[in-house]
Amino acid sequence: MTDELATIVAGLSAPQKIISPKYFYDETGSQLFDEITALPEYYLTDTELDIMKQHIDEMADLIGIEASLIEFGAGSSMKTRLLLEHLHSPAVYVPVDISEEHLLASQQRTKKDFPDIEVLLVVADFTHEFDLPDPATTPRRNIVYFPGSTIGNFEHDEAIDLLRVMYHEAGSDGALLIGVDLQKDPAVIDAAYNDSAGVTARFNLNMLDHLNREFGADFDVDAFRHRAAYRPDEGRVVLELVSAREQVVSIGGRQIPFARDETIITEYSHKYTLEGFAAMAEVAGFRVDRAWVDPAQWFSVQYCVRDR
Ligand SMILES: C[S@@+](CC[C@H](N)C(=O)[O-])C[C@H]1O[C@@H](n2cnc3c(N)ncnc32)[C@H](O)[C@@H]1O
Repeated sequence: MTDELATIVAGLSAPQKIISPKYFYDETGSQLFDEITALPEYYLTDTELDIMKQHIDEMADLIGIEASLIEFGAGSSMKTRLLLEHLHSPAVYVPVDISEEHLLASQQRTKKDFPDIEVLLVVADFTHEFDLPDPATTPRRNIVYFPGSTIGNFEHDEAIDLLRVMYHEAGSDGALLIGVDLQKDPAVIDAAYNDSAGVTARFNLNMLDHLNREFGADFDVDAFRHRAAYRPDEGRVVLELVSAREQVVSIGGRQIPFARDETIITEYSHKYTLEGFAAMAEVAGFRVDRAWVDPAQWFSVQYCVRDR
């Protein structure tokens, strides 16, 4: 059994079954995520884009000339386009993603639309340090870009570990530009993860198809349903797959029993306060230099500099 499969099996063997959200992202999952970002209930994308549009000149000035823009979890690089349009002579754009096919396809578009910017792809799991490619122009500094509040998918200690990887990849004099979703009316958050078109449900269930295909599992996808709820006391949304009946699933030569209504946690989406995020960033070595928010204070984009 590979280490990766062993980790998945261990997660499914725990008293509370859990699988990393990175397994959402095969080609289908990446496409479904793009659909989610366009849903009327999914306030995160529009709010983040509005903040970016409003403050893009200030962001570009803070980043400065000939920077390297390293995007963690680039996906389709939708929000990045605005930055690429406004940055002052960027040295290179480095989109990093685990979803290889989707990254290759979407970055063809970036290269076509920004022919003057060097685009160097990195297929990697960003939770571990990775080597940066060598661009033709030596960058003056590295800017790690992490939009979409993907940081919220990590539990507190894991989020700090990930911020530490970013601190490392930013290098001395580097900075981090990050989208961070904020705590708000639970009804707004619940609606965002339970859209009326059922796209988030398909996205969640697609993880089982992915595990069947890539890891030889035999999940009956129709025997699970999507559930997502914001838990204000924990400050996070918990996405789960609920077993509709008692069943046994086979993966990696193991038999995994499910009771009826037993769940697999597939994702957390933490919602922060400005103070809470600043405290976490500080542990990883970053100081929040600017935090831009929308008028309703639903979302923030934060510029963090290395503090030591
Ligand atoms: C929530 S989406 C955000 C996409 C885009 N940045 C945005 O803001 O719309 C998360 C992205 O991160 C990628 N991803 C998730 N976990 C990853 C990991 N451990 N390593 C590398 N990429 C990962 C996914 O493939 C996906 O493209």
